[in-house]
Amino acid sequence: MVNFDYYSPTRLIFGKGVVEQLAEVMKPIGKRVLLTYGGGSIKRSGLYDKVKSLLKDFEITELSGIEPNPKYDPSVLDGVRLCKENDIEVILSVGGGSVLDCSKAIAAGAKYDGDPWDLISYKVKAQSALPIVDIMTMAATGSEYDAGGVISRTDTNDKIGYMDELLWPVCSFVDPTYTFTVPPIQTVAGVADAIDHIMEQYFASPANELSDGFCEAGFKTLMKNVHIVLENPEDYEARANISLACAYGCNGIYSLGIASSGWPMHAIEHALSAYYDITHGIGLAIITPRWMKHVLSEKTVPRFAKFGVNVLGIDPSLKPFEIAKKSIDMMFDFYKSIGIPMHLREVGIDETRIKEMAHHVATTQPLDGCWAPLSEDDIAAIMLDSL
Ligand code: NZQ
Ligand code: ZN
Repeated sequence: MVNFDYYSPTRLIFGKGVVEQLAEVMKPIGKRVLLTYGGGSIKRSGLYDKVKSLLKDFEITELSGIEPNPKYDPSVLDGVRLCKENDIEVILSVGGGSVLDCSKAIAAGAKYDGDPWDLISYKVKAQSALPIVDIMTMAATGSEYDAGGVISRTDTNDKIGYMDELLWPVCSFVDPTYTFTVPPIQTVAGVADAIDHIMEQYFASPANELSDGFCEAGFKTLMKNVHIVLENPEDYEARANISLACAYGCNGIYSLGIASSGWPMHAIEHALSAYYDITHGIGLAIITPRWMKHVLSEKTVPRFAKFGVNVLGIDPSLKPFEIAKKSIDMMFDFYKSIGIPMHLREVGIDETRIKEMAHHVATTQPLDGCWAPLSEDDIAAIMLDSL
C-alpha cells in the first residue's frame, strides 16, 4: 500500500428528482449565474426549461453550443468574457463532461487577468476560480466528482487534461433518469471511458486488496449494466449503477493506496481526439486491447492475470500469460459486443499522422516513466496496431 493524501470536497447529490434542490443549493453561492450547455440535448429533454423555472429568481447569462472535446476558442474564451462582462458569481453547467470541463476552465479564466491558456497549460497557477455547480446528463467522465477538465486547442492540436484543486464542483446533481435519452453510441462511449479510468488506476503496482476489490466491482458493474441499458435505455437501476461507477472515475477514490500508472491510454487517446476530433471513449476502447498486448511482460502479467480471473471469470488454474492473453481477447470482444467500432480506420484515422501524433504524445506527455513505460516508438506501434 502506498501513502496517500485524499480530499474530495464536492457535494454529490444523487438520485431521481434531486434537481428540485437546485435553487436552495445555489442561493448561498451567488445570484448572477452563467448557465453553460451544449448543442441542444437539454432543450430537447425539457431540462433547460426546468432549470430556468427553478432559477426564476436568479440573473442568468447563457453560454450554449459547447462541443464535445470542448474547444478553447471559442467556448472557453467566450465564457470567460461573459463572466467578466456580467460580473458572474457562479457557473451552472448542464450537460455532459464536455460542458462541465469547459465550465471549469472558464471558472479559473474568469478570475485571471491574462490569457486563460496560461492556466490550462500550467504556465501560471490559478489563484482563485468561480464556484461551479453542475447537473450531469451523461455518465462517462467523472468530471462531476473531480478537479479536472480536458480542453482542446485546434490551432496547436493540443488536448490538455487540466487539474487544479480550485476546480472541484461545489455541488454536482446526478439524476440517472437524465441519462435515459443518451444515444447508444454515447452510452457505450461513456462506459468505455469509465472502464478505462479504472484500468488506468488498476494496472499499476504496488496495489492493495481493498482498492483492487473496489476497482473490480467497478469494472463488473459497468460491463454488466451496459448490456441492460442497451436493451432497455430506461432501466433506472442499471443507469444508476453506471452513473455512480462513472462518477467515481477520476477523483482518486478507486486507487487509494495504489501507485500511479501514468495514465498511458488517456495520453494516447487525447492525441487521437485532438487531431481527429473523435469521441474519447471510442478512441480508448480501440486503444485498450492493443495497449494491453503491447505492455504484456513478466512485470505486468500478474495484474493482467488478476484482472482476468476476478473480473472476467477466467479459470485461475491456467498459466498467467494464458489468462492475460485471454483477457485481451475478451476485452476486444466485449467492446465489439456493445457496438464499438474497434479499428481506427472505422473512425476516420489512417497511418498518415501516426508518427506526428506519437511524437506529440512523447514530447508533451512523456510516458517513459509509466508503470509500463512507453517510448515514442511504442506509442506509434500501439497506434499502428489499432488501425
Ligand atoms: O451537446 P449536447 O447537445 O448536450 O449533446 C451531447 C454530446 O453531443 C450528448 N448528450 C449529453 N447528455 C445527453 C446527450 N444526448 C442526449 N441525452 C443526454 N442526456 O452527448 C454528446 C457527448 O457529450 P460529451 O459531454 O462530449 O460527453 P462526455 O461526458 O463523454 O465528455 C467527453 C469529454 O470529457 C473529456 C473527454 O476527453 C472529452 O473531451 N474527459 C474529461 C475527464 C474529466 N473531466 O475528468 C476525464 C476523461 O478521461 C475525459 O478525457
Ligand atoms: Zn477518460
